[in-house]
Amino acid sequence: MYTFQDAGGRSMTLRPEGTAPIVRAYAEHGMQTLAQPVKLWYLGPFFRQEKPQAGRHRQFWQIGAEALGSDDPAVDAELILLLQTIVYELGVRDVRLRIGSLGTPETRSAYRERLIAHLRAHEEELSEEVRGRIELNPLRAFDADDAGTRAVMSTAPVLLDGLSGEDAEHFASVRALLDAAGVEYLVDPTLVRGLDYYTRTVFEFTSAVLGAQSGVGGGGRYDLLSHQIGGPHVPGMGWAAGVERLLLAGQPAPAAAPPVDLYVAGASAPEFVLVHEARRAGLNAQVELAGRSMKGALKQANRLHARYVAWVEADGAVLRDMESGEQREIPLEEVVRDVLRGPGL
Ligand code: HAM
Repeated sequence: MYTFQDAGGRSMTLRPEGTAPIVRAYAEHGMQTLAQPVKLWYLGPFFRQEKPQAGRHRQFWQIGAEALGSDDPAVDAELILLLQTIVYELGVRDVRLRIGSLGTPETRSAYRERLIAHLRAHEEELSEEVRGRIELNPLRAFDADDAGTRAVMSTAPVLLDGLSGEDAEHFASVRALLDAAGVEYLVDPTLVRGLDYYTRTVFEFTSAVLGAQSGVGGGGRYDLLSHQIGGPHVPGMGWAAGVERLLLAGQPAPAAAPPVDLYVAGASAPEFVLVHEARRAGLNAQVELAGRSMKGALKQANRLHARYVAWVEADGAVLRDMESGEQREIPLEEVVRDVLRGPGL
């Protein structure tokens, strides 16, 4: 939590994430009376008191989506598919999707006991670090990379096997829908997320180009959160993605220069008025602003990929089609009309 004292000596905390506020807003604004599920999204800055490093900031941006009021597995699958679509459309490289299911808090505490018992039974084979944290955080043993601990963990019980019948069925349905939609994923029974409110489905998209902070976006189901913070029993599911990480791991978008419809190769009073008129007619028009010669102005028009070039002469205007190279003398007041009509002269 990013907590500090303000000038009045009050303890202030900046929002670390958007899910709990959304759940609160749902109850506060009576959204249970709307058609369910209620789908919401957000984009904004969030704050965490973390040690800054590449891709990990104290102030960062998240885009997020949440659906409240339905525990249908289709909600989970739809939201996962939505984030996958965004990640692909942004060209995020080397993406991997991992999914898991955490069941209920009861499933998790029963599992914790089984895991601790397994670790205790093999205490001698564990690294010293893991041994020292058996009670504190037994799940961390799955992340260890020493051979002894890894051997012990290869036979460790996994949470997925301890799911209740209903939770296992829910997870199977989510998976069946993802399979039907052609989504590739890895079931990771050790996937743990940094927030405590999750039940059932959890998932995370990572990108290998991001290094240590590889999480691009993730989320899961939080069917108990609303009730836990004093609201009604409302199931929910959602995700958030880090905008900075999406940018870091995404393909740079090609700089899209808007097409120039008309380049006016001079800036005398009639030419200046012509550009103004062209713009009022909705054209993207540019005027020669550097006093270039006709040759220089045509070159500049080429650089801007201008479709037409016009200039004013004593008895009218000349309009040149830059694609065909054709040009015609026409009355000044017909230039805008002809460009609008396009394409050949
Ligand atoms: P989260 O995994 O804590 O989930 O954050 C989501 C994403 O925000 C991460 O995958 C990462 O891209 C980005 N992010 C997190 N912390 C930082 C940071 N310090 N610097 C840069 N980027 C960061 C949540 O926040 C949940 N509210 C997601 C959710 C929505 N679950 C259910 N609904």
